[in-house]
Amino acid sequence: MVKNSKAWGKLSKNFDSGVKRRINPSAADNILVAWPQILKAIGRHSPGKRVLDYGCGTGGLCNLLNLKGFKVTGIDFSEDMIKIAKKQTSKKIDYFVGDKKTLKNFKRGFAAISVCMVLPFIKNLNPYLKVFFNSLGSKSIIAIAVFNPDFIKALSKEKKIFKPIKDEPRVFNFTLSENPPIKTYLRAEAEYKKNFSNQGFKFLYSAYPKFSKKFIKTYSWPFAPKIPEFLIMAFRKV
Ligand SMILES: C[S@@+](CC[C@H](N)C(=O)[O-])C[C@H]1O[C@@H](n2cnc3c(N)ncnc32)[C@H](O)[C@@H]1O
Repeated sequence: MVKNSKAWGKLSKNFDSGVKRRINPSAADNILVAWPQILKAIGRHSPGKRVLDYGCGTGGLCNLLNLKGFKVTGIDFSEDMIKIAKKQTSKKIDYFVGDKKTLKNFKRGFAAISVCMVLPFIKNLNPYLKVFFNSLGSKSIIAIAVFNPDFIKALSKEKKIFKPIKDEPRVFNFTLSENPPIKTYLRAEAEYKKNFSNQGFKFLYSAYPKFSKKFIKTYSWPFAPKIPEFLIMAFRKV
């Protein structure tokens, strides 16, 4: 079986946010719909400037946070993603190849953590949420983007991108191009709330941003255009 970090590496070109070029259409949903929501959450609610982007991919969101004056650290377990991030974004950003074990060794006290489209691919959230909690300072926040469960359901019905896995209810194989399938865990808002609250986080708000007409037209967006793809949630460490 292909290691998840390698499977993601094969998708590094799909997720290359093209910081210095035009927007990469295969990452346009993250860039134009999810990232603005994460930036808004952090911009409005972070009590400080030191932020971490967990599962930063090719660094586009780190780059925007850096431009907004945050002191940014990006971490991702895919070497291919971090290679692109280092090449195309600001040298002021600290990048690391690693996962939650690596994060445990970082200096604590981040003012905010963003986790954009990473948690749906993680089976057991609790060990991750615990490390995030311990990495944050008091009154700090975490902003996440995950799949809206209705979006996964609609696409799997159409047999697009998500395929149900036999005998594993609410788990889907995610395949974008030729990448080895990556398991995706369908969770509703209430389940995320419960997981975060069990670790001591206080719920701030949630949002289901819609695709704009312009987005659908510009990117000839073929997937369930009326159903929001993302569920955005923000929590505070209390
Ligand atoms: C869908 S991409 C999102 C990338 C980026 N956050 C964005 O919004 O464009 C998921 C990213 O999470 C990374 N990832 C997935 N599981 C991870 C884990 N357990 N630890 C660290 N990184 C992970 C992948 O390598 C990939 O770069």
